[in-house]
Amino acid sequence: MAKIKVANVNDVAEGGLKKVDVNGEPVALFKIAGQIFATSNICTHAHCELDVSNVIHGDVVECTCHGSQFNVKTGAVVLPPATEPLKTYQVSVEGEDVFVEG
Ligand code: FES
Repeated sequence: MAKIKVANVNDVAEGGLKKVDVNGEPVALFKIAGQIFATSNICTHAHCELDVSNVIHGDVVECTCHGSQFNVKTGAVVLPPATEPLKTYQVSVEGEDVFVEG
């Protein structure tokens, strides 16, 4: 797996979501309490893009298509109808550069 630079830490707002590409896959970056996390940007329920709704409650992102909720730190389903977790990616920050393992 390669480490890919995807953003500057300041590109991701606290409590926000930024969509980036990792080897052609849409990935969502989240900043929670200053720490960056990365998951697939595609909801596992019916494949809506999470950045379109961009509703975040603490460390939970909600897909507004049908209301599924996921923990952005683990990818785990918090609220159905989704049953499959989001894919998560390992993130590292060097200086102001954000890298994702892809
Ligand atoms: S596509 Fe996300 S909840 Fe249905």
